[in-house]
Amino acid sequence: MLRLNNITLTQFKNYSQNSFDFSGNIIAIYGKNGAGKTNLLDAIHYLSFTKSYFGSQDTQQVQTGCEGFRITGDFSLKENIHPTNIVLRESGKKEVGCNGVLYEKFSAHLGRFPVVMIAPDDIELINSGSEIRRRFLDTLLCQTDTDYLQALIRYNRVLQQRNSYLKQAAVLKRKDEDLLETLDEQLSSAGTIIYEKRQAFAPVFKELILNYYLEVSGTPEKVDFFYESQLAHQSLETLLKQYREKDYILQRTNCGIHKDNLDLLLDQQPFKNRGSQGQKKSLLFALKLAEAATLTQKKGFSPILLLDDVFEKLDTHRMTNLLLHICRQMKSQLFLTDTHRERIEAVFQQIGMQVDFIEIGKD
Ligand SMILES: Nc1ncnc2c1ncn2[C@@H]1O[C@H](COP(=O)(O)OP(=O)(O)O)[C@@H](O)[C@H]1O
Ligand SMILES: [Mg+2]
Repeated sequence: MLRLNNITLTQFKNYSQNSFDFSGNIIAIYGKNGAGKTNLLDAIHYLSFTKSYFGSQDTQQVQTGCEGFRITGDFSLKENIHPTNIVLRESGKKEVGCNGVLYEKFSAHLGRFPVVMIAPDDIELINSGSEIRRRFLDTLLCQTDTDYLQALIRYNRVLQQRNSYLKQAAVLKRKDEDLLETLDEQLSSAGTIIYEKRQAFAPVFKELILNYYLEVSGTPEKVDFFYESQLAHQSLETLLKQYREKDYILQRTNCGIHKDNLDLLLDQQPFKNRGSQGQKKSLLFALKLAEAATLTQKKGFSPILLLDDVFEKLDTHRMTNLLLHICRQMKSQLFLTDTHRERIEAVFQQIGMQVDFIEIGKD
């Protein structure tokens, strides 16, 4: 089982220098609004992903008035301890180390100690367009499949090069078809790998989502998940040729796996329009549990779960069901936050699980 045994934060957001020990499997972090609960979960996320969950820059994490930050923590996995640290130097240079060795590429750390975060704003996964769901899927597959990760890094790099070429060609009014040919070849090869892997994973993921939706909501509903790519009909090589004129005119690449659709439906309507608040929350949990289940299956151990502002999300009954599932079946180490200790206590008393409490922000 994967666990985080402790964490030390230095000049990280509202933490000047604080250490926490996590001895149990269920850790409840409570404290007033603004006390630093979310920041602490994000620091745990940093140790896993080398970056913030919320997409903010490293420099924004530095405590106001300071320079640089440091996060260190010990993961334990299969009886081995893995000291892990993230440092942002005063110079702005970031370092990521594990077991005393600094990584040359941070991507090599990805997926070693997986965590799954569930935060209030995640409802955007359902309410927004495909882009955010593509990112969700990419994050998952990048952790379980290094070929996917490498292909995605290549794809994004070449896509950027191709787009700058298209812009430059317009400015200079000069085409370099040989260069474009080379870029297209590279984009096709990386894009095809990603397409095939997404295509293979989509039905598996859909199955998981539907099962978890039923489990969380307790009611059978017509939920659907669709993956749709232009590459299903034509090779990316052909598409790039077809779009070439259009791409020159619009000065960017208008076909490829960065245009793939990932749709969530309820009764064949977009879930964001059709679903109630409660249904959306159930679906959000279903997506996250599907993510956790996939990681468990591919890694052979459960990811750490980070549940921010738990009672914002579900009514107590659904929440109890969900926590039961997480604790009994997934056997994940679970961090959860709330403003009130008693609420957490009550739920876990009902389940009959031992919880460690950490209060933060008391003066
Ligand atoms: N770079 C920073 N330096 C110092 N304090 C920060 C920084 N970024 C955020 N904070 C503080 O962190 C607090 C919010 O912490 P947060 O973890 O979101 O609280 P909550 O317990 O409500 O989840 C705010 O008081 C905010 O001022
Ligand atoms: Mg918070």
